[in-house]
Amino acid sequence: MIDLRSDTVTQPTAAMRAAMAAAEVGDDVYGEDPTVRRLEETVAELLGTEAALFVPSGTMANQISLRALTRPGEEVMIGKDAHCWLHESGALAALAGVQTQQLPGDGRFDAQAVRDGYKPSISYLAPTTVVAVENTCNMGGGAVWPRAQIDEVLAATRTLGMSAHLDGARLWNAAVATGLSERALAAGFDTVSVCLSKGLGAPAGSMVAGARDVVTRCHRFRKMYGGGMRQSGILAAAGLHALAHHRARLPEDHANARLLAELIAGEPGLEVDPERIETNIVMIEVAPPRSAQALVAACGERGVRISAITPRRLRLVAHLDVDRAACEKAADVLRKAARFA
Ligand SMILES: Cc1ncc(COP(=O)(O)O)c(C=O)c1O
Repeated sequence: MIDLRSDTVTQPTAAMRAAMAAAEVGDDVYGEDPTVRRLEETVAELLGTEAALFVPSGTMANQISLRALTRPGEEVMIGKDAHCWLHESGALAALAGVQTQQLPGDGRFDAQAVRDGYKPSISYLAPTTVVAVENTCNMGGGAVWPRAQIDEVLAATRTLGMSAHLDGARLWNAAVATGLSERALAAGFDTVSVCLSKGLGAPAGSMVAGARDVVTRCHRFRKMYGGGMRQSGILAAAGLHALAHHRARLPEDHANARLLAELIAGEPGLEVDPERIETNIVMIEVAPPRSAQALVAACGERGVRISAITPRRLRLVAHLDVDRAACEKAADVLRKAARFA
């Protein structure tokens, strides 16, 4: 089976499992796990922040960050279809008690949109207090923010007295695509979340990074949200291994995503522009009478798993468990499925 549904479907490698098995551990709720400490120090250094906190998932990383930066009744400004709104089970409303305002675009937006959308603290308004940037944009097809655009958005955010959160679940991919370091891409945000379980191939785990006081606040919310773990050094060891061994190979995923798009482009009924593939995600528009769901089923029968993101859009994601040959085979299967749909 070739599984291109997500970069989260990877299996831990033998070397990663060995690192997990050998991890030195302690009770992390007591702050006694040396491997978790090492991961937190490593990520803080990598992102250029004072501190970092290990959490079970990217969802928790986003949610505790935004909870720490807001008060109930406020508003968080986000890009179109941002993960923290679309795929986190309504947690911003349910747990943080905040509302969201989605800005138009492909997940990216500009400083003018921030200024236009800002709502001040007036008795009858929900004041906008945080701007959240997702880099890369998952639903935007892995789109990467130009650093200059981030700078303009952050400048507008600061001028209006707001805080800024970066959902960097795939910041590693953005770093590869831009040639900038993760530290450079994280600069200027109050909180930064990064995931070890997406392109990097760890079985679980994300990080929240920022200044010590905000990370301390996040630490409290991690416990409140049920994310305090005990001998979590076993998972942190997978994260350390992923950072050391899987980051450098991400360009391979980007090349495979591009290859998928090139092999599929031009097939009647499937619309994709290879020039727009910036990282490891490929979005394909499906023309009627075909439906995305029918193509998912047809490909599944031929050993290729892909996702239907909407009734007319497919998502394919390259990752460390699919090589070039697997992508060639997947593209062939999808093309044939589209012909017979
Ligand atoms: C952009 C983005 N942020 C956050 C998350 C949440 O990560 P998790 O699935 O670990 O909760 C995802 C998951 O795919 C994501 O794509």
